[in-house]
Amino acid sequence: MTGLSSGAERGRGVSPRANASPTIVLGLRSADATQEWTQALSEALPHARIVTDSADAPAADYAVLWRPQPGFFARQPGLAAVFAAGAGVDWLLTDPTLPAALPIYRIEDGGMAEQMAAYCAHEALRFHYRYDRYEAQQREGVWQEWPYVSPARCAVGVFGMGKMGEAIARALAALGFPVRGYSRSPRALVGIECFDDSHGLEPFLQGAQVLVVAAPLTPATRNLFDATRLAQLPRGAFLINVARGDLVVEEALLAALDSGALAGAALDVFRTEPLPREHRFWTHPRVRITPHVAAITVVSESARQVARRITQLGLGEVPSGLVDRSRAY
Ligand code: GLV
Repeated sequence: MTGLSSGAERGRGVSPRANASPTIVLGLRSADATQEWTQALSEALPHARIVTDSADAPAADYAVLWRPQPGFFARQPGLAAVFAAGAGVDWLLTDPTLPAALPIYRIEDGGMAEQMAAYCAHEALRFHYRYDRYEAQQREGVWQEWPYVSPARCAVGVFGMGKMGEAIARALAALGFPVRGYSRSPRALVGIECFDDSHGLEPFLQGAQVLVVAAPLTPATRNLFDATRLAQLPRGAFLINVARGDLVVEEALLAALDSGALAGAALDVFRTEPLPREHRFWTHPRVRITPHVAAITVVSESARQVARRITQLGLGEVPSGLVDRSRAY
């Protein structure tokens, strides 16, 4: 062990290693990611010891994780906190081996909000301005102009108004789209029409010609966009999912696309990733697919965020980004 405090001390928010160099274990998905994080964390925290998860890794004070190998928490029983190497923590909160009182921090923005805003702006613009028509015309060598329709006539709804959702909403509003945002609890944002649970989802969906799904996957959002919810969107609406595949019922989405109730969908996330080769989404003419890249973790920035938080924890402070387990994000 590395001289960690007991769980009871941790529970009181006492720093586990206020006067020592922390050991940080990395449980990431690839050797490349491990190398990048090791280098970035070593630069941001020169006194820290960075190790990689393995059966004989030393006991660590903190962990940086993204879908670690099974048995991780049994190998590291003395952690004071865990840092997810991304924004979503659904994969961590559904791990039955996750210790109940272990604090979890998620990356807040860390360079991802800008990427997501760009992704959604690109898809919303492409849909609204019908650039697909010009792509098709180029393939046929056709020179034909279509009338201009102002983006003011295409309302966009952003479901989930956390750091990512807010950045998406602001980017789309700046492009001239009327934007409405939906969050659990009330928000007030200049230039954005704000909806929350007290209004219910239906009036929000009814006015969303483009729906951006940007909320975390929680028990409350799993399968939320089923046939009933999708039918509440205006006819010919476009769906963009940059959150998690499990928020949308795939069969319901396919049925809505097949019938033309929805004009199209840009999907970055799927229930099964990589998306199985035989999945209908791959060949559906109304579906656009990207391989979960709408917001790629920027390791340098994220490592600096983790380093700042470790320093704060060492001083007995509570950093931002702490996951509220009762809300599951
Ligand atoms: C990516 O999906 C993330 O949660 O950061």
